[in-house]
Amino acid sequence: VTHSLEEKSPSAAVDLRGRSEFGFISALRGELSFLRTQVREQLERAGALDGPFVSIEHLRTLTDAALQDSRELSVIGETLHWSRAVTTPRAVAAFERSRDALEPLATWEGPPPLDGINDSVPGYWDYEFHGTTGGWDGHEHMGFIHFEIVYQLLLANAYGDIFATRGVVAAEAPSDSYSRIVDLGAGTGQYSMKLAETYPDAQLTLVDISETSLNYALRRAANAGLRWDAVRAPAESTGLASGEFDLVTSFILLHEVPPPVAGKIFEEAYRLLQPGGHLHFSDVTPYRVRSRYQAWLDDWDAEIGNEPWWRSAATLDLVELAESAGFVDVQQRGLGSDSYPWVTTATKPGRA
Ligand SMILES: C[S@@+](CC[C@H](N)C(=O)[O-])C[C@H]1O[C@@H](n2cnc3c(N)ncnc32)[C@H](O)[C@@H]1O
Repeated sequence: VTHSLEEKSPSAAVDLRGRSEFGFISALRGELSFLRTQVREQLERAGALDGPFVSIEHLRTLTDAALQDSRELSVIGETLHWSRAVTTPRAVAAFERSRDALEPLATWEGPPPLDGINDSVPGYWDYEFHGTTGGWDGHEHMGFIHFEIVYQLLLANAYGDIFATRGVVAAEAPSDSYSRIVDLGAGTGQYSMKLAETYPDAQLTLVDISETSLNYALRRAANAGLRWDAVRAPAESTGLASGEFDLVTSFILLHEVPPPVAGKIFEEAYRLLQPGGHLHFSDVTPYRVRSRYQAWLDDWDAEIGNEPWWRSAATLDLVELAESAGFVDVQQRGLGSDSYPWVTTATKPGRA
C-alpha cells in the first residue's frame, strides 16, 4: 500500500485565461477520436491492416497509400500540429502573466543539482521533443511550466491519471525494497515521486540533462518533505560512483535517445549497479507486439509529434542491449492496456 506524497498542484494558481486555453486544446484533441474512428475504418476497408506485421516500413507503405486522400487524417494532423505549436508558448505566457504568484512556487532555493555537464549538452538532446518550444530548458522555469501547466492542465486532462502508470511501473521492480535507487531521465521527478512512495526507505538519485526539470523535481521533493540527490548529466555518462546502487530505473527515457546512446545507457546502468542489483526500464511498446492499427498509430503520431527516436526505440532489441551490457535474467512485458508501458527488467550477475 502506498500513499501520495504531494499536496494540491500549483496549477490552481494559473489564471482563468490559461486554464481555459488548455481546456480548449484538450477538448479539441479529445474530439479527434471521432475522426480517428473514421481513419481506422478507411484503413480496414483498404485491407491495410490485414496479415501479419512484417516491419513498420512495410506497414507504412500500405497505410500511407490507403490514407493519401483522407481528409480526416489531414484534420487530425493539422489539429495536432497546431496544438503542439501553441502548447509551450501559451504555457510560458500563462506563467508570465501570473509570475508574481507562480515564481515563488516554482523556485528551488536549496543546493543545485551536481553539475556533470559543464554546459555542453549532447546534440540529440537539444531538440524540440513533441514541440517543446526551445527544448526542455527553453525557459528558466521550464520544469515547473511543463509539470504544473502542460502536464497538469493538458495531458492529465486528456489521458486521465498519467501519473498512476508511473506508480504501477515503480511497483513492478523485482524486489520489495531497495536502499539506493537511480532514476535516469528523471525530469521533474514524476516517476521519482512514485519510487519514493513505493520504496520509502530508499535514497533516490535523479539524473537528467535538463537543469530546470531537476530544479523543480528538488522543489517538489522538498514540498513533500523529501531530500533527493540530483545530478545534471547524461544518463549514458552520469559520473556517479560504480557499484553503489541496487536499482537503476527509468520511465520513458529511452525513446528520447538515438540507438547507440540507448546501448550506452544499459552499459552505464550495469556500471552503477552492485552485483545482484536490478535494472528496470520502461518505455514505448515494441511495434511487433502491438496490433497493426496501434503500430501504425504510434508511428504516425510520433512522426507528426516531433519524436525522432520513437521508431528506433519501438524496434530496438532491448534484450540484446541488456545482455551485451552483461545483464542476466532479462525479462520483458507490457503492463497496462495494449502493453503500454513496456518494461525491461534484468539483473547484474553476482551477489551483493
Ligand atoms: C519524457 S521525459 C520523462 C521524465 C520522467 N522520467 C517522468 O516520469 O516524467 C524524458 C526526460 O529525459 C531527459 N533526457 C533525455 N535524454 C537524456 C539523457 N541522455 N540523459 C539524461 N536525461 C535525458 C529529458 O531531459 C526529459 O527530462
